[in-house]
Amino acid sequence: MEPYRIKVVEPIAITTREQREAALERVHYNPFDLRADEVTIDLLSDSGTGALSAAQLSVGMDGDESYAGSRSFYRFEETVKELTGFARILPAHQGRAAERILFSTLLQAGGIVVSNTHFDTTRANVMLAGCQAVDLPCPEAKNLDSHEPFKGNIDLEALERYLGATDGPKVAVVVMTITNNGGGGQPVSMENLHKTSEMCRRYGVPMFLDAARFAENAWLVTRHEAAYRDRTPRSVAEEAFRLADGCVMSAKKDAIVHMGGFVGLNDLELAEKCEQLLIATEGFATYGGLAGRDLDMIAQGLREVTEPAYLAEREDAARYLADRVRAAGVDILEPAGLHAVYLNAGRLLPHIPAHEFPGQALSCQLYLEGGIRAAELGSLYLGEEDEAGNPIKSAPYELVRLALPRRVYTRSHYDHIGETLARIAKNADSVRGYRIVEQSPILRHFRAKLQPA
Ligand code: F0G
Repeated sequence: MEPYRIKVVEPIAITTREQREAALERVHYNPFDLRADEVTIDLLSDSGTGALSAAQLSVGMDGDESYAGSRSFYRFEETVKELTGFARILPAHQGRAAERILFSTLLQAGGIVVSNTHFDTTRANVMLAGCQAVDLPCPEAKNLDSHEPFKGNIDLEALERYLGATDGPKVAVVVMTITNNGGGGQPVSMENLHKTSEMCRRYGVPMFLDAARFAENAWLVTRHEAAYRDRTPRSVAEEAFRLADGCVMSAKKDAIVHMGGFVGLNDLELAEKCEQLLIATEGFATYGGLAGRDLDMIAQGLREVTEPAYLAEREDAARYLADRVRAAGVDILEPAGLHAVYLNAGRLLPHIPAHEFPGQALSCQLYLEGGIRAAELGSLYLGEEDEAGNPIKSAPYELVRLALPRRVYTRSHYDHIGETLARIAKNADSVRGYRIVEQSPILRHFRAKLQPA
């Protein structure tokens, strides 16, 4: 059960089918463009969407809004240093800002960054620095149905081959994303992190963590990795950070705040350079684009997020939703992670070809049937067409992500999702595809306009 009770509530929109049809038509069948108050259950992201605790609000009231050297910064810095062990902590307004600060300082054009899987913004920031982003996920990740516990791992053999080959010396950093969001929210084992860290040291390449969901990763390690079964998630997380040379973190996930992030570094020279860019573009080094109250709420959230009772409930809630989804006759990317359940839209809607976007079709149907908003992760996100509109590349899988905000929805909301999916699955044959009528040159899934095919 939830190790908390509800103290403050917020109404959610209860809409009619007619209202939803009109809204979806108005936004050209792209739920990203819906107004949030047209959505009943919003599973677009687990980022910045969590519920604050009374303790977080309380420390927020004590936030020190001094321009420089605020008490809040020192409390934040001490907490993050205790958790991560890094010598320097630079606050930033969110994860991608931390990525930009790090990569535009650490990377030189022509370099390569290798990862278990880069998150979109991480990849974009690598590319903006004139570098190439290479993903080396483990082979088990390719099988959506397999229940292997650590499908977020990096492929160690492929990494060794890569580092030893002609392009090896161009690798500037290896980034381990924990948990692996781009790879279905799957965790990385401590064995894999230890071996990657050891290999990176051997080749003289720094290893960084993209630690957005470090606590969820640590929890799954205690659940599934024999050598860590008796450890607390906090001690697993501490060990993971200490294997790395630095980290970037979006605090909007596992610090359970609405805004925030940071860079952690051991290399003081690199930290000096990052700090200069931080001051020029984010804010002075003791606030980095955040308010004092934000820094205090991050520190408190980082203490709450590794509580075993909180993480156990988060796993249980995700499992509960995954069970409802399977019972509705919809397959998911197995095993269900903690931050999201990914629906296999390609398998549910085999009559819709990739270039008519089965994931988008399911996501629109979730909204029409149940007022539920979810993100397409299929060919709208990853596909490409030529100038005449003919498909030239489709996604390997047509998925829809149901992201789970922290401490926000209850089991009855999850029942509603299961019931909605059961209605959709029963009439899956009648679900239509979509085609694009207008799109932007990059990150098209956010603003593309579509119409029923
Ligand atoms: N790294 C990972 C693994 C992420 O999942 C995200 C954001 C970021 C970095 C960037 O952090 O949003 O604070 O700038 N993921 C969100 C999501 C947006 O919905 O998965 P940010």
